[in-house]
Amino acid sequence: MSTTTTTIPHLPPSKRNTITNYCCCHINPMSISIIVVVTLVSLFLLLKLYKKKLGNKNLPKGSLGYPLIGETFSFLQAQKKDQGPEWINDRVKKYGPVFKTSLMGAPTVVIVGQAGNKFILGSDENVLVAKQPKTLSTVAGKHNIFELTGSRYQLIKGALSSFMKPTILQSNVKHMDNLITTLFLKSTKKTNIIPTVDFMKRVTFNIASAVLFGIQNEVLIDEFCHDFTIAFKAIWSLPVNLPGLAYWHGMRARSRIIDRLMPIIRKKSEELREGRSSPSSDVLSSLIDVKMQHEDVISEEMIVDNFITMMIAGHDTSAILMSLMVWKMSKDPKIHRNIFEEQMDIQRDIERREDQNLTWSDIQKMKYTWRVAQELMRIIPPVFGSFRKVVNDTTFGGFDIPKGWQVFWSAYNTHMDSDVFTNPAEFDPSRFETNLLKPIPPYTYIPFGGGQHSCIGNEFARVETLITMYKLVTMFEWSLIYPDEVITRQPMPYPSMGLPIKVKSRSSATAID
Ligand code: HEM
Ligand SMILES: *[C@@H]1O[C@H](CO)[C@@H](O)[C@H](O)[C@H]1NC(C)=O
Ligand SMILES: *[C@@H]1O[C@H](CO)[C@@H](O)[C@H](O)[C@H]1NC(C)=O
Repeated sequence: MSTTTTTIPHLPPSKRNTITNYCCCHINPMSISIIVVVTLVSLFLLLKLYKKKLGNKNLPKGSLGYPLIGETFSFLQAQKKDQGPEWINDRVKKYGPVFKTSLMGAPTVVIVGQAGNKFILGSDENVLVAKQPKTLSTVAGKHNIFELTGSRYQLIKGALSSFMKPTILQSNVKHMDNLITTLFLKSTKKTNIIPTVDFMKRVTFNIASAVLFGIQNEVLIDEFCHDFTIAFKAIWSLPVNLPGLAYWHGMRARSRIIDRLMPIIRKKSEELREGRSSPSSDVLSSLIDVKMQHEDVISEEMIVDNFITMMIAGHDTSAILMSLMVWKMSKDPKIHRNIFEEQMDIQRDIERREDQNLTWSDIQKMKYTWRVAQELMRIIPPVFGSFRKVVNDTTFGGFDIPKGWQVFWSAYNTHMDSDVFTNPAEFDPSRFETNLLKPIPPYTYIPFGGGQHSCIGNEFARVETLITMYKLVTMFEWSLIYPDEVITRQPMPYPSMGLPIKVKSRSSATAID
């Protein structure tokens, strides 16, 4: 019901009239009124039927808000002020852990708690399917992995995640290390100020281009970076395709990205066919290989869409984690000192041996540093939560959830549950020590989601984050330009001023106090 009516209300009343006049110029006013009356009556009947159908159901409590808009604005507003958790908590208090609302144009059931997370994230495709904002499917393309199902989903996911296997990650440590070192040196050559957020976005973007997609040409990477930045903005914009708006710019950026990508796909296809490269060379080759083997189900468009999707999925998320790490270390000298000591030990080990490249086993030693990252993602999950679409009537906790509705899961509520995490507001990386008596129960710590659609890039993110932190703390001392900088959701949780830091390079022997 909602999809057929969403577009019209965006137009102001005056526009709506002009369109009616224009379209119906050769129908007389009498027939217009008949059409209007018939439409209204059938809408009314449909609505009644719909209400009656729902009337027999035991729907969760809650408010559907205004027609169509529902509670979308208050939800987005709360997110912006980083009060998304409070927005949910207020309703949980009023209605219970399963409540209804209406978001992004569809009636929605929000479910919090471990059982709810498991119900949503662990559900199969017959009941719930992934659903992303409309803007994502226009910018990333309609074949993006989030929205594929069945064999197409399995094949694309296989191709993307084959590159996330430990053996392949291990062989890329040196490459990542070189890239990150070069970026740090380049960025501090002329100035001693690093704009952390922009810098980290640059790091994740360059690593994804070079390591995941085998794109080495620096000019090309810069051109991609320019267009992707425009495309990223469109994902968080209103989907209105009018010249000059973010969405319009995003769609044009998408077509420029495709124009640059096609020759690369052609070249890599040739190399694969002639045996000059293998599917495990990079993600693009792996996708091309799957297409060659399954021409009937995998199209070239799917390769393109999932190239863009991977660049989107792996970009902001990791850049946020890295920026939050710098923010936390700047604010908390004890955490900074612990990380510094762990990393200096590793650096001393490296300097003592023959091959002075950073290796996989060095990264495995960065245990404390990673626990800080885990604790940060508990308190400030980079992904607040996401939607699923209900494709078959279902029930949860005694409530009916009708087909056509959507459900929403949120990481925050179990992350802050004192039954799972003692003193949840306290920052304590030791919660993630592996020898705990009480391990963290499944579906309660979900910064990377869970179940079928859980993040395939979590290990990749861990490796790039740890190398970047290793380089930062061993190369530099730093201080914040804005000491009171806070984290705001825009809607991703970034430091509000971009976290510029003033750096001073350190000789390897110094310690911080
Ligand atoms: C700290 C960094 C990251 C965080 C917090 C994160 C978080 C998430 C979450 C919460 C989901 C599940 C979304 C849902 O269920 O609706 C997800 C899915 C996904 N992530 Fe990540 N992610 C991170 C890094 C990455 C990286 C580096 C990549 C790729 C290089 C990546 C690729 C993906 C893909 C392809 C999916 C979709 C999987 C599927 O639908 O089967 N992510 N991520
Ligand atoms: C709904 O469930 C039935 C039975 O499990 C299944 O055959 C059907 O494909 C499902 N519908 C959708 C849209 O997945
Ligand atoms: C890193 O390894 C390469 C060989 O793969 C070697 O040529 C280079 O000297 C090493 N770098 C350091 C700093 O040891």
